Amino acid sequence: MTNIGPGPGRARQTRVYVRGLGGERPRVPVAPQALERGARTKLSAPDFAYLAGGAGSERTMGANLAAFERVRLVPRVLSGTRERDLSVDLLGLRLPTPLLLAPIGVLECAHPQADLAVARAAAAQGVPFVFSSQASVPMEACVRAMGDSPRLFQLYWGTDDEVTRSFVRRAEACGARAIVLTLDTTLLGWRPRDLDLGHLPFLHGRGLAQYLSDPVFRSRLSETLPTPAVQPPRTPALIRAGVELAAKGRAFGLSVGQMRAAAARFTATYTRPDLGWDDVSRLREWTGLPILLKGILHPDDAREAVRRGVDGLIVSNHGGRQIDGEVAALDALPGVVAAAGDLPVLFDSGIRTGSDVAKALALGARAVLLGRPYAYGLALAGEAGVREVIQNVLAEFDLTLGLLGVRAARDLGPGHLVPH
Ligand code: FNR
Ligand code: LAC
Repeated sequence: MTNIGPGPGRARQTRVYVRGLGGERPRVPVAPQALERGARTKLSAPDFAYLAGGAGSERTMGANLAAFERVRLVPRVLSGTRERDLSVDLLGLRLPTPLLLAPIGVLECAHPQADLAVARAAAAQGVPFVFSSQASVPMEACVRAMGDSPRLFQLYWGTDDEVTRSFVRRAEACGARAIVLTLDTTLLGWRPRDLDLGHLPFLHGRGLAQYLSDPVFRSRLSETLPTPAVQPPRTPALIRAGVELAAKGRAFGLSVGQMRAAAARFTATYTRPDLGWDDVSRLREWTGLPILLKGILHPDDAREAVRRGVDGLIVSNHGGRQIDGEVAALDALPGVVAAAGDLPVLFDSGIRTGSDVAKALALGARAVLLGRPYAYGLALAGEAGVREVIQNVLAEFDLTLGLLGVRAARDLGPGHLVPH
């Protein structure tokens, strides 16, 4: 399949420059650092901290970007084409481009329309969206906004198997193309920005939409839980938090008491530090959907995944939010690709530009997941902001291919990189 027209790169460039003649500037900044700065200006301190922050001293976050600095592309001249073919094959689908939108929880931190705005933008651009288990909008509502556009469902496996199974059943009913099981967040990482603000969105009832809309989770709300060891001080802030919880509850037909129970139950059951390989095999039995494992960094884990019969791997360190001082995701990519054999390997953690997409593909990724940049676009301009961020990344990717002398995204390989 070839792209029609001048290609997304030239088209986007031309549009921006021509509108610039009339004094109009792009709605969201094109430069990645400016995009992040813009979101910081727009959002409250706790909301921005949750989106932008990482684990510990944020060395993993820095390493993710530094790894992209070290990888260098080498163009071949006089071998370009008028149009590039950006399509890739994944999970039996031919995707128009190698870009997916990563699962990002609590998108209401960025914008009130949250996942719904992202779902619309993704569908408009033909880019698959991975729904998060910690979404702010139930998956069924996002699907209604997406038509046939591809979606996947990211699963967090809590301690209540029946809720986990219910999520999987709902994802199947929603036409998800795969279950993305995230393995790097069996505990929430140590995040100083959030800790210093004493802010965890879930305790405010945020990022719980998949749970609050789940029949099995809801059926548990009358069950009593042991009283938590720590109680919040009775302050005006606690009263405001109660008001927020009540408003959230109204949207889901739940009373304040039920919302308190929901937040407590979620906290008590979220994540399973003892999740094991046999659980992956159980998931295989529960569903006929393809399974992608997210958070694979070690080649031995990739080999075990192959033995367990999964359908793909996602090399990711969760954007540096989980372990401080972890291997940069890009540095781990070649080893996982080599160990994965025929399994497709996707990549995330540090994709900021179209050139980054080219580097990840040259190192063996089939496709990449865009994370924080689209959340910043959402913060700045809602659905339109997400659309523009996607367009910018794809435009630069297309131009980069053209300038490298590469006809198709599928043709990128080690030959386009400075050898290590
Ligand atoms: C995430 N990520 C994530 N991953 C996941 O599997 N389920 C989730 O609910 C979330 N939630 C989430 C929230 C926020 C605010 C961020 C920034 C990230 C991780 C995400 O899917 C992806 O791995 C990272 O965003 C990649 O890093 P960069 O490129 O965004 O820095
Ligand atoms: C996070 C979880 C929700 O990174 O994945 O905050």
